[in-house]
Amino acid sequence: MMRLINVNAIKEGAVIARDIISYEGGILLTRSSKFKDAFRQKLLERNIYEVYIEDEISKGIAPQDIINPKIRRQISQDIKTEFEKLKNTLEINIACISEITTTLFEELSKKDIVCDVMDLKMNDDYTYQHCIGVAILTTIVCNKMSIRKDHSHKIVMGALMHDIGKIIIPKNVLNKPEKLTQEEYELLKTHAEIGYRIVEKNGFISPITKLAVLCHHEREDSSGYPLGKGEELHIGAKIVGACDVFHALMSNRPYRQALSVKEVIAIAQMEKINVPIRQTIESILAFYPVGCNVLLSNGDMGIVEKNFAQDVTRPLVKVICNMHTHKRKEYKLNLQQQLNIHVIEKISDIPL
Ligand SMILES: [Fe+2]
Repeated sequence: MMRLINVNAIKEGAVIARDIISYEGGILLTRSSKFKDAFRQKLLERNIYEVYIEDEISKGIAPQDIINPKIRRQISQDIKTEFEKLKNTLEINIACISEITTTLFEELSKKDIVCDVMDLKMNDDYTYQHCIGVAILTTIVCNKMSIRKDHSHKIVMGALMHDIGKIIIPKNVLNKPEKLTQEEYELLKTHAEIGYRIVEKNGFISPITKLAVLCHHEREDSSGYPLGKGEELHIGAKIVGACDVFHALMSNRPYRQALSVKEVIAIAQMEKINVPIRQTIESILAFYPVGCNVLLSNGDMGIVEKNFAQDVTRPLVKVICNMHTHKRKEYKLNLQQQLNIHVIEKISDIPL
């Protein structure tokens, strides 16, 4: 039973509902521990802006993981091991990548899947977080678009490895908060081709996987790099490229905080992403994650309890109080049915 609260709004003594893990894998705060003001700065310094707390009003709110957490930890560990090896040997174990892909399809086969930003966030090094996040989105999109099973598998393998070429790009270029110089940008762009070379020299691998790695920065109007394939661009490269854009915008980066789903969708609409793929991604991303506090158009404030695939902007909300009177309320509002009311915005906390 928990809700998401902005780190700046947590009060001293609030009970932490989930372990807070640092990028290095250590536990910063354990579940059930009490929050102290001194922790705030430490969390913010680590780019942690929201945490789950447990309190009286969050009763009945239980965010569901789209992937079993134990399996997810295993995937994360396997990817980490593979990428670490890759740094030294420039070789990648394709069998392991294929196995992870099979697991993702097993875990994400459910129809009507709704994915929220918390499903894609892992407190992990961005490289691992990003490749797994892009692979999760790619798996769901392939399922939704009814791509042939054998093709989907190859595309998701490409998603898992799409950025492996970054392994040889200097960290100061990858994480530079300021705009890259032309030279730095040219260097960054080489990661697509380097990734392709690494994948290619590792045994038999499908051209679909290789193309997804090589062409994930290409767009169907021939913009992007490195080949400018245009209309010939393979559907796999288009899907991985689109999921890459969405996931990157939804993540915290050294140069900016993660954007909200609403903002991400607005930006993605200006990108040259294939329209059916973009709309498929938009249809699976919940605007308001389960557990977040929201303000409704009738002036009530509440906590998101459940999201629905039919319309990802209209969740079931547990109403807590009214914003003007602060009078305590207790009822559930299913916005799939109450079409005269909508969510105005996500808010950092519910003042009681
Ligand atoms: Fe990339």
